[in-house]
Amino acid sequence: MRDAYIVQSIRTPGCKQNKGLFNQTRPEELISFIMKTAVERTPNLTPDHIDDVMLGCAFPEAEQGLNLGRVAAKMAGFPDKVSGATVNRFCASGLEAIALAFMRVRMGWSDITIGGGVESMSFVPMPGNMPRPHPEYARTNPEMYVSMGITAENVAARYNISREDQDNFAADSQAKAANARDNGLFTEIIPTPAYKYVKQADGTYTKEQFMVEHDDGIRVSTAEGLGKLRPAFSAGGVVTAGNSSQTTDGAAVSIIASKEKCDALGLKPMAKLVAYTTIGCKSDEMGVGPRYAIPKVLAQAGLTIADMDIIELNEAFASQALYCIRELKLEPYMDKINIHGGAIALGHPLGCTGAKLTATCLANLKEVNGRYGIVSMCVGGGMGAAAIFERL
Ligand SMILES: CC(C)(COP(=O)(O)OP(=O)(O)OC[C@H]1O[C@@H](n2cnc3c(N)ncnc32)[C@H](O)[C@@H]1OP(=O)(O)O)[C@@H](O)C(=O)NCCC(=O)NCCS
Repeated sequence: MRDAYIVQSIRTPGCKQNKGLFNQTRPEELISFIMKTAVERTPNLTPDHIDDVMLGCAFPEAEQGLNLGRVAAKMAGFPDKVSGATVNRFCASGLEAIALAFMRVRMGWSDITIGGGVESMSFVPMPGNMPRPHPEYARTNPEMYVSMGITAENVAARYNISREDQDNFAADSQAKAANARDNGLFTEIIPTPAYKYVKQADGTYTKEQFMVEHDDGIRVSTAEGLGKLRPAFSAGGVVTAGNSSQTTDGAAVSIIASKEKCDALGLKPMAKLVAYTTIGCKSDEMGVGPRYAIPKVLAQAGLTIADMDIIELNEAFASQALYCIRELKLEPYMDKINIHGGAIALGHPLGCTGAKLTATCLANLKEVNGRYGIVSMCVGGGMGAAAIFERL
């Protein structure tokens, strides 16, 4: 198999669903902008060099429908020959897309591909516009369709994850994110155009553009302050808006090129994908997924958690993140886990998240002069996914 390398990896800011700065910016506009910018920011690379786009999206319907991977390639101004596909593995869609893009290059089916993800939860809210569970199966297997918030309550209840610990973890995530924003440490973020429609005197609307430079959900909070929030999913529960990931809009991409193309075009390899894996778990406690995916991907790579310099563990909920940290005995590595905060502060734009965390992982590896980084998340429906990247 050929060698393949990431030669570019960037993201837009993440903005709150409905209340945030991207609430009138369509998903195609977010993803086509970041795809076009990724090519422009890669010396010696032009759109004509791109073969294919693999795009993750958790709810590929309505404004995110009609094979967004292909539509986005066209809206980015790429030539007709650039093909595109849309990939759905819910919260791991963006990581799956990067892995599939890698595989195409390593197998020799493509030379240069884009792997990325986008989610506009403002335009397509969870769980989509028209969820239609199978009536008989849903009656006999309701666990397959429980809300993610209830799965977080289940993890907290079954594995004794206290409200206090969750709120402390959440406050820490917010503090790290605010520090990183205030010190310009999110080097993977690209200032991104957003739009708003402004009503004119004659009743018509004009489309106005403005730039977004920062994640807009960061909110410094004390554990005490978070302790006052009402449960969001279950009366008497412990999962709140303060210790849950935010629902968010965002996009992110990585460009993958073969060694041959890197040599021929003078593209600078940033990193490579060492291993990627997924594994199933109980649907009604899907948050435990990384507890199984991380050991599996480490074994595939012949590495240990001690070899990791950066650990990007998606914070779908504090309860599940804490469960995974405890079960995997990651406490000694807390200084490597989500060093600039996680989804509780920065948001979890579902299908984008895997690509977003890849860009963050590579930027953080560069910052700490590290070699190996792991990206992992739980996945709605009952899965865990994990990837190991090696910085070059
Ligand atoms: C939990 C959830 C329902 C909250 O959504 P929301 O109500 O729109 O959230 P908000 O940001 O408006 O916060 C709700 C309240 O908590 C407060 N709050 C939220 N975060 C806070 C913080 N960090 N500090 C202090 N207060 C906070 C808000 O001020 C708001 O209070 P208000 O109602 O008095 O204005 C939503 O974020 C969610 O569904 N998250 C999980 C998403 C998910 O399942 N993803 C997939 C995972 S696999």
